[in-house]
Amino acid sequence: MKSGVLDKFWDHLPVTSATPKVSLGEGDTPLVKSRKLSEIIGCEDLYFKLEGCNPTGSFKDRGMVLAIAKAIEEGGRTIACASTGNTSASAAAYGAYCGLPTTVFVPRGYVAQGKLAQAIAYGARIMLIKGNFDDALSLVREITHKHPVILVNSLNPYRIHGQKTAAFEIIQELGGAPDYLFLPVGNAGNITAYWLGFNEALQKRWAQNRPKMMGFQAEGAAPIVRGAPVEKPETIASAIRVGNPASWASALKARDESQGLIDMVSDQEIMEAYEMMASSEGIFCEPASATSIAGLLKLSGDGLNLTNKKVVCVITGSGLKDPELARKIDTVMEEYPADLAAIERALKVT
Ligand code: F0G
Repeated sequence: MKSGVLDKFWDHLPVTSATPKVSLGEGDTPLVKSRKLSEIIGCEDLYFKLEGCNPTGSFKDRGMVLAIAKAIEEGGRTIACASTGNTSASAAAYGAYCGLPTTVFVPRGYVAQGKLAQAIAYGARIMLIKGNFDDALSLVREITHKHPVILVNSLNPYRIHGQKTAAFEIIQELGGAPDYLFLPVGNAGNITAYWLGFNEALQKRWAQNRPKMMGFQAEGAAPIVRGAPVEKPETIASAIRVGNPASWASALKARDESQGLIDMVSDQEIMEAYEMMASSEGIFCEPASATSIAGLLKLSGDGLNLTNKKVVCVITGSGLKDPELARKIDTVMEEYPADLAAIERALKVT
């Protein structure tokens, strides 16, 4: 059985006989049919692509595996990236697996605990930058330009080629492309990658048409929607706290060529969608991933008719990445002695 993005999609990736076929078991993530949200918005064919099921808990692994394989092929000795957390976790994991020392540049104080824990455990060198993601990215771009260190951000084209495989999987599973693809937009690599994947699939005649690309940013970090960089981006969805996306131009291209849109939602809408996904669909995602769900609810509320349409929402990362946030959900935890009678009384089963 084929396993991993390289093995499964070898013929569709920029690889050579010298590319090592490494894998931590990335890709092949579940496409789950909605039970609740589909009813709310009146869309029978609504699916969630669970990218949090990748080895490090986010979609980044699809592109990282190819970026690392190519780095090894090209004789690279070390890798580096800037990150809001997930890219650093993924780079650190694949760096550890392949024996490539990894340095990650992250905005100090703005990375979810689970992501930082991963970078620590995988043994990356962690540089906490007193600035935001955009500052960290420009630093790492300069460093990798000046020194023999390979950049594994999505500016590395292999990252995009690896990530496009998610579009292939969706087409394989649905027997064609969906009508709409909803996804969060941060540095804009993923929307670029999906659009590449759907276009390649169309050329290969795997799909008859391409989906509308529906990207969503957080209101406080919505440079593409506002049409200008945001100097001090702010959002509860720390993964997409990006003020000046590196793949801005290709995100616009995906939006326009697909006749889709890039819109924004508030932190409150993100939190509502985040809670709803866990409590009504059984899918615990991180807040950035809930951004596209919030967007879907917003457009549906504004009258977008999705009857008889096939819709896929990309759930980009696992909720376990950001455990502090779940603790902010209003809930009561009950404390009891380890005593059967007391528990039975509380549960009213006596
Ligand atoms: N969802 C999650 C969970 C992410 O971590 C990211 C980006 C996105 C969505 C947006 O994807 O940047 O390709 O538009 N995370 C990057 C990182 C910035 O450093 O981990 P994008």
